Amino acid sequence: MYLTKEEEGMLAGEQGDVIERLFRLLVRLGDIYGADRMIPIGSAQVAGVSYKSLGMPGLEFLEDYARQGARVRVLTFLNPAGMDLENWKELGFPDEFAKMQTRVMDAFRKMRIIITSTCTPYLAGNLPRYREHIAWSESSAVSFSNSVIGARTNREGGPSALAAAVCGVTPNYGLHLDEKRTPDLVVRLGKDVKLEFNSDFGALGYYVGRQVKNKIPYFTDMKSANTDRLKALGAAMAASGAVALYHIEGQTPEAQLMDTTGLEEIDVSQKDIDETYAELSTTREPDIIIFGCPHASLREIAALADKVEGKKLKKPVWICTSRMMKEAATRMGFTRTIEDAGGYIVADTCMVVSPIEDMGYKTTGVNSGKAANYLPGFCKQEVVFTNIDKLLEASLE
Ligand code: F3S
Repeated sequence: MYLTKEEEGMLAGEQGDVIERLFRLLVRLGDIYGADRMIPIGSAQVAGVSYKSLGMPGLEFLEDYARQGARVRVLTFLNPAGMDLENWKELGFPDEFAKMQTRVMDAFRKMRIIITSTCTPYLAGNLPRYREHIAWSESSAVSFSNSVIGARTNREGGPSALAAAVCGVTPNYGLHLDEKRTPDLVVRLGKDVKLEFNSDFGALGYYVGRQVKNKIPYFTDMKSANTDRLKALGAAMAASGAVALYHIEGQTPEAQLMDTTGLEEIDVSQKDIDETYAELSTTREPDIIIFGCPHASLREIAALADKVEGKKLKKPVWICTSRMMKEAATRMGFTRTIEDAGGYIVADTCMVVSPIEDMGYKTTGVNSGKAANYLPGFCKQEVVFTNIDKLLEASLE
C-alpha cells in the first residue's frame, strides 16, 4: 500500500507508540483487503462502549490508551453506553456497573471523544456529507450513512474505528470505492405489502437481511419512507444479515446511478412480513416495553408523547435516545408528558447494551426488528415484537 512520508513516519514511531500501534492496525487491515492507500476521514463513530460488552479487559485497554496520550484528530462520537449516564440510579442500574461504566466514559473523554453515546450520530450532531469518507462502527449507523446520506464507510470494528479516529485516516477499500457500491440483487415488494408502522420496516429489513446476508439490495416498489423508517429498515437488515448499504429506487441518493439489468430478483409478500413478526415474537406479555432502536428521533418521541398524553401506563415504558434528543424533548414538554403517564425517556443507552437482564426484566416488548433479533441472545429476554399501537394497547390503563 502506498504511504505518504508522514504515514511512513507514523509507522516508524515518529509520532509516539500509541499512533504507531494504531496506525499499524490500519495498515494491516488495508493489506488484508487490498487497499491502495489511506484516505482522510471526516468523522468517526466508535462502538464497544457499554461496560457490559467491554468488561474489565476492554476497560483496561481504553484506560491504557488514554493514559498514553491517544487523542482523536476528527469529530468522533460514541455508540450507546450501558446506562443512562445521568439518571442511572433512578432507573435502577446497579451501582458497581455504573462505577465501571463511568471509568469507560472518562477514558473516552480523555481521548477527546465527544461523550454523545448514540447509534444515531447523524441526528445528534455528527452528520457526514454525500460521498464523504468516514469510519463508523455501529452497524445501523453505517447502513444509514452509506444508504440514506450517501457517505462512505465500511463496517468498522470498535478498535479500527478508534484507530481511524486517532490517525485521521482509513484504508481505501470496500464501500469507499465506487465499484463496490453497486447492487447485487433487486428486492421487489408485492402489491399486498402494507408498510404502515415503523415496525413493519423492521420486519421487512429482518426478512430481507436474512435472505441477502452481506450483499447490496436494491428495493423497488417502495412508497416514500421517512428517515425513521429507513433507519428501522437498515438496522434490521444489518442485524439479521450484514447489509451495510442498500438502495431504494427513487429515494436514496445513489439509486439513480445504478444499473439493475440482469440482477437476481427476490419478491417479498405480506405473508413474509407477517411470518417474520410471528417468528421474532417468542411470547405475548411483556413486562417492560422499550422503544428507540435505533435511538429515537424527535418525531418518534413526539409520537409516543401524543399517544400517552393524559393516560396512565401499567408497565414500565422506556424510549431510548441520545442526550441531544432528550434535551429537545424536554424543552418541548414531551419528557413531562411521557413521565406523567409513567414512562421514561432514557438517554445514552439502549435495551440491548444495558444490563436489563440484571434489573429483573425477563420479557421485553419492542417495535424494532433489530432489537427483537438481539434481545434473546444478548439479554436473555423473551420478546414481543409488534407495532407501537399494539404494544401500548396492552399497557395503557
Ligand atoms: Fe442502537 Fe441499541 Fe438498537 S445500539 S441500533 S438501540 S441495539
